[in-house]
Amino acid sequence: MTESSAKQEKDATIAAHWREEELIAPPAAFVKQANADSTDIYERMAEENFPGCFDEYAELLDWSRPWDRTLDDDRPPFFRWFVGGELNASYNCIDRHLDDAGEKVAFHFVPEREDEPARSLTYSELHREVSELAAVLRDDFGLKRGDRVTLYLPMTLELPITMLACARLGVIHSSVFSGYSGQACADRINDSQSRLLITMDAYHRGGKLLDHKVKAEEAVRRSDDCLEHCLVFRRHAGEYHSETPMQEPRDRFADELLAARKGAEVSPEPMRSEDTLFLMYTSGTTGKPKGAQHSTGGYLAWATATSKYVLDLKPDDVYWCMADIGWITGHSYIVYGPLALGVTSVLFEGAPTVPDAGRPWRIAEQYGVGVFHTSPTAVRALRKADPDLPGKYDLKFRAMTTVGEPIEPEVWHWYREAIGGGDAVITDTWWQTETGGHLITTLPGVVPMKPGSAGPALPGIYPAIYDEEGNPVPSGRRRAGNICIRNPWPGRMLTIWGDDERFVRTYYERYNTDPESRDWRDWPYLAGDGAIQSEDGYYRILGRIDDVINVAGHRLGTKELESACLTVGAVSEAAVVAVHDPVKGVLPEAYVSLKPRYSTDNVGEEVVRHIVDMIGPIARPRRVWVVEDVPKTRSGKIMRRVLSALSEGRDTGDVSTLANPEVVETIRRRIADETGSG
Ligand code: WTA
Repeated sequence: MTESSAKQEKDATIAAHWREEELIAPPAAFVKQANADSTDIYERMAEENFPGCFDEYAELLDWSRPWDRTLDDDRPPFFRWFVGGELNASYNCIDRHLDDAGEKVAFHFVPEREDEPARSLTYSELHREVSELAAVLRDDFGLKRGDRVTLYLPMTLELPITMLACARLGVIHSSVFSGYSGQACADRINDSQSRLLITMDAYHRGGKLLDHKVKAEEAVRRSDDCLEHCLVFRRHAGEYHSETPMQEPRDRFADELLAARKGAEVSPEPMRSEDTLFLMYTSGTTGKPKGAQHSTGGYLAWATATSKYVLDLKPDDVYWCMADIGWITGHSYIVYGPLALGVTSVLFEGAPTVPDAGRPWRIAEQYGVGVFHTSPTAVRALRKADPDLPGKYDLKFRAMTTVGEPIEPEVWHWYREAIGGGDAVITDTWWQTETGGHLITTLPGVVPMKPGSAGPALPGIYPAIYDEEGNPVPSGRRRAGNICIRNPWPGRMLTIWGDDERFVRTYYERYNTDPESRDWRDWPYLAGDGAIQSEDGYYRILGRIDDVINVAGHRLGTKELESACLTVGAVSEAAVVAVHDPVKGVLPEAYVSLKPRYSTDNVGEEVVRHIVDMIGPIARPRRVWVVEDVPKTRSGKIMRRVLSALSEGRDTGDVSTLANPEVVETIRRRIADETGSG
């Protein structure tokens, strides 16, 4: 790099060009009933009260032994919370509700097929099923505290039941998303050295009965000697819907073993607060996934407190989170947080647009769902399918959450108007697999919403935005940097499973100036996202640091460009990627898909005009591709990496784990035809 280009690089700050949206106050009726209804909570959690302020979150749980020390920070960044305390997560999610609410429904399980009856499972029934399965795990497989078990299960009741049975014994569960390949599952079995794989023969998704055991078989075949057995639930009692034969004695049917444990009582194992509750694998910058290792006490306190104050869950609520339990959102906000609060949840097996985009609203109507939780991608898909459809149903959402990606103001407003009836509160929650629960979001009864911004930090969370040199980036200057959290918090993962060194390197090395320091203030947590803070303290997340596009020294968040694309009336979804350019270094290219019944005429020019208008000529895309669909992961994240490979004519790598791998080939052919390449 020449000196002048280095200088240019250094001077280049991430410019944020989005227009600031207006603040929107929550309706008075919401504030009146909210779990957090005044700014007191921010004061109680002020920095001078750290870390003792977090005791009140731990007090939301039942402990068999109280803790002696709120925060053990003797060995940064390996922080430990509520040390000396003992508790059991399964007890907190089930047993403690039995006296008062044993007959209350814990889950309404809704199968994908509308002609298959739903099943409502009470807390007492949950208790029985968890206990019996815990007996099987302990007595048939000899599992004991600290052992690892991999769960490869779809969105059926067996998944939360299995997690809680593991938690009851102190067995560490590692849940692998059912949409992952057998190889991906095997990698996770091997990394965690799991003794048992728990899976299901088949499940319904996207209008089909998918053979799942066939993938589990591949996982078993590719796993190390650590794996002793495979426990198989049957989706339909007494039937077996897999091409792969059961291999006795390695494979066992769960129903047969459970029949022999009828009425078994397994008492919850008292676990130390810092004992591991579960592993959740997440992708890093290298190919090897990282096992985020979560604690029992700190994690559960965080999931519970944020479910109470951010999701605003009350014991009488019917709540529905459409995420998959195979991801962290499902762990924290379908299983552990809501159950610890004794709430009733909907658990849905299927895809939201099958058989049609009215399905979620029929479910919400039927169960009287009051609090709804989904991702921006799902919101965009539902809007794309038919923007007027939700208005035809009697929806009564008082609170709605989004998670996982920035939500464009355009989409946010549709979510609130069309689905929220114009008066639901929206919490846009920013957090990560590693953080255990929400970090940045509004407390919906206390601070106003701002479309496009996640919000201020939660009480007790102290973010900072640093530039490349480690200098704080001031708020209100329209400059962005790397968002960090300055202080430890109870929900943060303990470490990366089996790799403390990678944990320190990934999250702490960047901004730690003294590796010997024993002071937590020297250990800011690097989240890996670009962000900007406006004058009023609200944070806007610009996407992963690696999603930032640097056009001629101007760094643009891909999300800003995508948001501009979405202001074009015809556009339903947009993905912007960086492509190399001999003059400018990199240039953006945009991929957009259209709402139904719109023609592609002039859409490309319109998109360019909106980007240039809203951001400036610097952001002008080299090309706009109007496509039928963009490649996405099964959890709905747009795979910009795949699109940028297509734009640059590079190999896309393995795309078989995508939700819609077929679109990759379609786009590749389009590009080849139109650019004369390939
Ligand atoms: C992104 C999901 C903008 C972010 C809970 C983060 C978000 C990554 C938001 C973590 C949000 C999550 N606004 N971006 N509200 N929430 N992200 O580990 O880039 O699957 O680093 O956890 O998703 O994804 P993960």
